[in-house]
Parts: sequence; C-alpha cells; structure tokens
Amino acid sequence: MLTCLLSFLSPSLSPSVLITLFTVVVVVLFLTTSRLVPVTEPLARGSIPCLPRLPFLGSLPWLGGGLPPHLLFTQMSHRYGPLFGLYLGPHYTVVINSHQHAREVLMQKGKDFAGRPSMVTTNLLTRGGKDIAFSDYTPLWKHHRRLVHNSFTLFGEGTTRLQDIVLSEVDSLCVELLSSEKQGFDPSSAVTRAVTNIICTLVFSATYRHGDAELQEVIQYNNGIVETIARGGLVDIYPWLKVFPNKSLSKLKKCITIRDQLLTRKLQEHKLSRSDGEPRDLLDALLKGQTGGQGQKSSEPKDDELTDDHVLMTAAETFGAGVETTSTTLLWILAYLLHHPEVQERVQKELDEHVGSERTVTISDRGQLPYLNSVINEGMRIRPVSPVLIPHTAMTNSRTFS
Ligand code: HEM
Repeated sequence: MLTCLLSFLSPSLSPSVLITLFTVVVVVLFLTTSRLVPVTEPLARGSIPCLPRLPFLGSLPWLGGGLPPHLLFTQMSHRYGPLFGLYLGPHYTVVINSHQHAREVLMQKGKDFAGRPSMVTTNLLTRGGKDIAFSDYTPLWKHHRRLVHNSFTLFGEGTTRLQDIVLSEVDSLCVELLSSEKQGFDPSSAVTRAVTNIICTLVFSATYRHGDAELQEVIQYNNGIVETIARGGLVDIYPWLKVFPNKSLSKLKKCITIRDQLLTRKLQEHKLSRSDGEPRDLLDALLKGQTGGQGQKSSEPKDDELTDDHVLMTAAETFGAGVETTSTTLLWILAYLLHHPEVQERVQKELDEHVGSERTVTISDRGQLPYLNSVINEGMRIRPVSPVLIPHTAMTNSRTFS
C-alpha cells in the first residue's frame, strides 16, 4: 500500500527538509518504545470483559472480517471497553486499548509484564531468544540489554558519530532523489537502501555504494524476514503445525540462513581484526562486552555470559528492528508532506529561520524546531509502523488496571 501511495512521488521535497527528517527520525528512534500486552495467566479473568470462545479455536472465529488487528481491536473496544480478553487458540490474551492502561502496564508495572511469549517464528529468527526484543526477561537479558545500550552510546550522547554517518548517507540520498528531476518516481528503494547502509555502518562498519551486491543481499533477506514475520500465522498459535509444509516458514528459514552466513563472516573478520582500543562498531562493542574488555572469553560458556549466538542475534536484530521501522516512518512522512505542501512550506520556513542555508541541520537543532518535531510525531501517530507492538507476557501475579 505504501509503495502504491508513493509511486508518483515527484522531487518536490526540499533537500533540507529531507536531511532534517532523516537525521531526527534515525537518532530519535533509538529511544522509541510502546507495546501491546497479552497476559498468559488468566488473573482477574472475571473482571475483564472477554470475547466468546470455542474449545480449541478459542476466540479466533470472532477475529475475522479482514480488518488489520489494530483496527479490529479498536472496533472491539467500542463494545468491550478499553481492556478486554480473548483467546488466541488456547492462549488467554489481554488487549490494552487505552493510553492510561498502557502507561500503567508498560511504565509503572513494566517489570511485571516484561516477559515475551515463545513463538515458532521468533524462536527461529533469534536462535531461541538470544536477542533482546523477543527474549524473555532474565538477569542475562538485563545484562545483554545494558551492554547493547552502552554500545549505542558509542554513537550517541557526547559524540557526533551517528549524525556524521546519517548526514553522509543523506547527501547521497538527496543526490539520488534529485537526479530524477521533474519526473515522478518511487523513493522507497532509495530510502530503504540509505537506512540499510546506515545500519550496516553502525553494526559492522561497512559502507556500500549504490548497487553493491552485498548490500542488495542484506536488503533482500531483511525484506523476506520482515514480510514473513509480519504476516505471522497460525503456527505461532498452534506450534505443532510446523510439521506441515509451510511456504512462509520455508522462506523465513531461507532468509535466516543467508543472514547468518553473512553475519558470521562479519563476526569472524571482526574477531581477527579487533584491537584493545575504542570499538569501531556494534560488533566490536559486543565482543568487548563478552569478555568484559579482558582479552579472550572463557571456553566454557557460563549461565550469565553472552555467547557468540547473542552477539550475532543482536546484530541481526538491529537490521530487523531498525530498517523497516525507520524507512516506513520516513516514507509516510514524505507522503504526507507531499500531500500537504502548506506543512512542507512551514517546516522549510522554520529551518530557514533557525538553521539557515549555510550549514546542514544537526540533531542539536532539534530543540529549536518544534514544528518539525510535531510533524514527525504526528507521522508516527497516524501511521505507526508497529501498531500492535511486540506482545508481552506477565512474569508474575500483578495488581494493575487501576
Ligand atoms: C521509526 C523507527 C522505530 C520504531 C517505530 C520502533 C518501534 C519499536 C517498538 C514498538 C518496539 C517494541 C517495544 C516493546 O514491545 O517493548 C521496539 C523495540 C525495539 N527496537 Fe525499535 N523502533 C524503531 C527503530 C529502531 C532502530 C533504528 C533500532 C536499532 C538500531 C531499534 C531497535 C529496537 C530494539 C533492540 C527493540 C527491543 C527493545 C527491548 O525489548 O527492550 N528500533 N521498537
């Protein structure tokens, strides 16, 4: 749908608007989170309205109608209220449909609901939860997550590394977009390529030229993974279905194999070439974190130790989590700006007044650009890339929902 909407995009978006959008969205979104919350323990079941259910199928017969889940759930909330239960096959699930409840569950009671369900597709994707997004909440997960956050600070606060990487990529993107002059074109492949290139630089310090075969490979397997995971499927509700032929699961496995071959090669190269100095990228930082900065890690893995699988799955997840989200957000904002030239003009005016035309816009300008910030926030609000988020599971009995 997005590609259709954008296929007649003309180059009427000014480069400075594009540079700013790109810089702010990529940097800001390292911090973005929000969630949908299924709960496995049927606590307080009686007090939460629940959809009807049948044996084995649960509430699935009431979840048809062709609407995407977030619209379906919103529609159901008019009947059942902002908090309701349903059964995905045998799995009791609570849908949170109000800001107040979401805040309570994610922020005030975040620890109680910090688990993740085990699913066939995401287990394949993450070697059984060796990543951050789909892994359950454990002491090892906390250590792993802290390490990744620390690694990201390499590119964040106090350094302009991420910004420099983004700005350099934006230069190339602008040249490419402007080269089509007055003719209509679809910017989605150029934007996806630019975002992928940035993530490749962050993760393993590779910068690719347009048309590079390895970059194309990364884009292709990443697309395949996003398509199959986003489609979900009954196999995640009834795991025994995995013994039957399943085209989507086969495609997912194929893409994962290609991904793992490439990332394993990058990891081996990094092990051979890394030094004791500043990490060059995320892979270096994770390898350093594996040993606590002390030379070699022990040959016997301990329970609280990050294995090579953790390092690989974290690198892989940066692509899975970072490329589609950022590109889709940028493309929607571009589409809305094109359809609302008056908004585009106001963004340009704000940029002219606060930044001028003598230099590129930087992330430190953000505080001076409230209108642009609102445009980005509004883009993410009306076209959220992950409207039902990643499911959470309850870790414990919890008092909640006010
Ligand atoms: C527009 C851009 C983005 C959006 C809208 C977005 C959205 C989200 C959402 C909704 C979640 C799920 C939160 C939850 O259920 O707990 C999430 C988690 C995550 N995202 Fe993003 N994201 C974006 C960009 C990125 C980028 C660029 C990266 C990395 C380079 C990234 C890495 C992650 C990771 C590692 C998690 C798991 C975090 C955790 O469980 O603690 N995301 N993101």
